[in-house]
Amino acid sequence: MSVAIRYQSRGGHVREMAEIIAEGVDVEPISIDDPRAPITKPVDILFIGGALYKFRLDPAMEEYLESIPEGMVTIAIVFGSSALTHRPIFLIQERLKAKGIDIHPMAMYMRGKPKPYLHEIGGPWAKREVAKIEKQIAEGTYGEKPEAPIVQMIRNHEKKKQEEAQKAKAQAEEASVSNEAGEADAKAEK
Ligand SMILES: Cc1cc2nc3c(=O)[nH]c(=O)nc-3n(C[C@H](O)[C@H](O)[C@H](O)COP(=O)(O)O)c2cc1C
Repeated sequence: MSVAIRYQSRGGHVREMAEIIAEGVDVEPISIDDPRAPITKPVDILFIGGALYKFRLDPAMEEYLESIPEGMVTIAIVFGSSALTHRPIFLIQERLKAKGIDIHPMAMYMRGKPKPYLHEIGGPWAKREVAKIEKQIAEGTYGEKPEAPIVQMIRNHEKKKQEEAQKAKAQAEEASVSNEAGEADAKAEK
């Protein structure tokens, strides 16, 4: 299986993630700025990462994703970083999916600088995902039973958080209404 790593990073966070992945799969991480970045040979699994800047991918990253020749990459495992949201992961996945590349259902995301624990678990995670894909392909089960895509997992998580926030807000409003009602009752009693 041929594995490659490409990344875009302005401040070094995504580069650090690429280096962590590289330790696990023993492949050199290459920045999209590097002259060797263009995919010129078929790649079975491409680890590809980027960050979010003003709600978007870096324009150079957009250009790079667009430049990947169709049919050259089979599967993409996406990684990314931002201050707040998983958006860079979704954006990269969307672009690649549109090119007919299979999106691996697992992705690596970090808020800001990779935490020390990522150095422990990130490499083995990448290695495991590659081994899992290899095994599925060898057994002919690849793509048959997709796991819950990370997008779905994150959406469920976000929905749950939203519901919790709405519930807390409704409870707070109810409490203030009953306080007001209580105050009105107290006034009426006076
Ligand atoms: C100019 C600039 C704009 C950014 N805009 C966003 C943003 O819109 N949303 C967000 O969640 N993070 C934003 N960030 C945070 C970066 O996505 C985050 O720091 C990321 O880890 C940077 O990765 P890098 O160090 O590899 O460039 C921004 C950072 C910079 C420098």
